[in-house]
Order: sequence, then C-alpha cells, then structure tokens
Amino acid sequence: MRKVLPRPSGRVALAPSLLSADMGNLARAVEQAHKGGADWVQIDVMDGHFVPNLSFGPGLVAELSKTSPLPLDAHLMIDNPLEFIGPFAKAGAALITVHFEALKNPAAALKKIRAAGCRAGLALNPDTPVASAKRHLPLMDLLLLMTVYPGFGGQGFLPGSCERIARARELIAASGRKIWLQVDGGINSGTAPMAAMSGADSLVAGSAVYGAADPARAIKLLRKTVKEEHTCQ
Ligand code: DX5
Repeated sequence: MRKVLPRPSGRVALAPSLLSADMGNLARAVEQAHKGGADWVQIDVMDGHFVPNLSFGPGLVAELSKTSPLPLDAHLMIDNPLEFIGPFAKAGAALITVHFEALKNPAAALKKIRAAGCRAGLALNPDTPVASAKRHLPLMDLLLLMTVYPGFGGQGFLPGSCERIARARELIAASGRKIWLQVDGGINSGTAPMAAMSGADSLVAGSAVYGAADPARAIKLLRKTVKEEHTCQ
C-alpha cells in the first residue's frame, strides 16, 4: 500500500537508508526506523553500472510496502531510470528519485514519476553543479544533493557540501515552491546539524543509524542534534 510523502513543513525530515541495515531482516529495520520517529525510509537502488555496487529491486519495495508504516523512498542510482519508474511506482514507492547524470531528459522522467502517482525527486552527484536543477524545479517535489560519491554507505561528508546545500536552498527559496532539500551521504550527529543549518530539510542516514547498537535511539539522537547550533567547517 503506497504511503504519501509529506510536504515540507519547516521541520527536518529524517530518512534512514536501508543500505546499511541488516540485509537478513529489512522489515525489522523499517520497524526500527518507525520506532525512532523517522519520517520515511530510503531504499538505495543500485545496478552495478551507474554506481559500482548492486542492491535492491522493485520486489523489495513491494514486499516492504505491504507492512511499512512509513513512506518508502526509492533512490534510483541506475542507468535507464525511465524504464524502472513504472515498476517502482507499482511496487508502492511514495517517492522516486532519479539522477540528473543518468538522464538525457530529466523533465520527462520527473513528469513520468508524478504521472505514476509518486512524488518526484532529482538527485545531483557531488560534481554536478547545483544550477543544473534550476529549470527542473517546477517538476520536482524533492532535490537530493549527494554529499558522497554514490555506491556505498559509511563514507565521509565531502568538503564543500555545506556551500552546495546553501546554494540549493537559495534556488528553492527563489522558486517559491515547496520542495524538499534532501542530503545524503556521511550524515551523522556531527554533520546533520551542519547540513540542516545550511538549508537541508531532509537528511538520509545509513551507517549512523543502522551501524548503531540501537537504530531507533540513533535516529532520536540525530533528531536532537539538528536543533543545536552548528556552523559548517
Ligand atoms: C550511497 C547511498 C547513501 C548511503 C548513505 O550511495 O546513496 O544513501 O546509503 O549511507 P551513509 O549514511 O552511511 O553515508
């Protein structure tokens, strides 16, 4: 059953990434996210071409969406994402995010995602200028800035990320549209407040949550840190 992704409300949304969860019990990982007060769960889809790793398919989303109390966010780190919008929408994804770098026509992909009844996200890799997203803002519900090179969890938050986040926040503010600014990669209790202070209002965290002994508690701690004052180094 597809859950609906909430609209930006000024509160920072937390979305644990299942890539770092116990692969033998992903349904339990979703429950832990819910128990920790997460807003939705991110499923990192990787094809071994666009990124040097393989992960999940629509079947996992379909299975998890049967019982998940949280919306599911399918982050497609794949070549030919257009081909998989239908299957992930049918599987019950609330949000489908596609990569700018994998698309000849990002607008067509974003329109297709919305036509399938999902919220539409566009992701930019660390080396892709933030300005690349500007003309597509009217077609998206979420802009995802990667703060690591995609493919694996447990990497470090790249230097210069706060400046990118601030620039993206300026673009979204100037558009006057309610668009999530999601940041993904190296988010932990140290970098979460920096990202939030720079303008992010959705944070994806994998290893900081599922690498902890108590993932639910780790999410609560992350939530606590984004309220504190931090500046970007
Ligand atoms: C990286 C994935 C991220 C990753 C985040 O390719 O897109 O979502 O799982 O993991 P951490 O939070 O450990 O950097």
